[in-house]
Amino acid sequence: MLTNKVKKIALLTGGGDCSGLNAVINAVTKTAILKYNYKVIGYKFGYRGLYKNDFVDLTLESVSGIQHKGGTILYSSNKDNLFDYLIEENGEIIRKDVSDIAIANLKKEGVDALVIIGGDGTLTSARDFARKGINVVGVPKTIDNDLFATDITFGFNSAVSIATEALDRLHTTAESHHRVMILEVMGRNSGWIALEAGIAGSADVILIPEISYDINKIVNKIRERDERGKPFTIIVVAEGAKPKDGEVVISKIVPDSPDPIRLGGIGNKLAEDLEKLIKNHEIRSTVLGHVQRGGITSTYDRILSARYGSKAVELIEKNLYGNMVCLKGNEISYESLENVIGKIKGVNPSGELVEVAKNIGICLGD
Ligand code: F6P
Repeated sequence: MLTNKVKKIALLTGGGDCSGLNAVINAVTKTAILKYNYKVIGYKFGYRGLYKNDFVDLTLESVSGIQHKGGTILYSSNKDNLFDYLIEENGEIIRKDVSDIAIANLKKEGVDALVIIGGDGTLTSARDFARKGINVVGVPKTIDNDLFATDITFGFNSAVSIATEALDRLHTTAESHHRVMILEVMGRNSGWIALEAGIAGSADVILIPEISYDINKIVNKIRERDERGKPFTIIVVAEGAKPKDGEVVISKIVPDSPDPIRLGGIGNKLAEDLEKLIKNHEIRSTVLGHVQRGGITSTYDRILSARYGSKAVELIEKNLYGNMVCLKGNEISYESLENVIGKIKGVNPSGELVEVAKNIGICLGD
């Protein structure tokens, strides 16, 4: 892994999928082959493929026609941390550091550098492989947009577009029935999807994890709209939002996942709580769920992914390992993985975007 002239690179996609993964695979593969004449392979199911040495050759033919498609042709897994991997040994299921097996596989295949496409969990392992001397470049993926050191992760824009369309659709049905409509969106512990979709989709109330909400503020907003002759209200709530003096709602625990908590259910809880206080409107709650991760990739994400993929290969050619490509302003740049991991980029409750939302009359629940 210490050669200067790179001949072969590998890539893998880890964590929850999102739109733009295929666009990055496309850009990395084409840039590597057309510009630098590298060979390219892709490990299947993220780190699991690296551990099992399960890979496919990536060629101009195999990536043809994938740029706009959601998902990942390499498949993904959000359970396989090779530094703390679940394996069966002597009839027992134990956790073990199997990273050296992965490194041996890379050497066996003559892989000079590895492009790791993922969010916080996947890139934490990328950093750990870099610490073990592997030539690694990271690409920031997640609909949650919560990765530190990049202004935007790919996948986020597509998710916001889907959530915005959902709000547009809820508007017409809310208005027809004079209802209060709640849309629960993803985002883990950050409120980026809710905030941006809420602004774009003209929500009346946006609830995010970074600002605990007071239900009375929401009730006041509904009443104020009634008085203005707008007897319907649209609320977008991030799955990680919580009431003041309350807790987040957990939908399930995935025991074999490195990050086992799955949030979900705050939309229904809010509907139940509001029903006790609002008697003149019916209330309905919709959970958008994994729809936010699938389908056609937005134009913005296709371009961002192409830029990220191309830059990742440039970093390899320049021996700039241990870094993650990132967007700063409108410039594609890079940042050491050491500075990225372990810091979550949440919405700034007193930042410009929250201020804009409040300026245009949206209630943030505070
Ligand atoms: O991190 C992406 C994300 O979609 C989160 O927004 C959500 O909380 C989580 O993954 C869902 O995970 P799973 O696909 O395991 O249900």
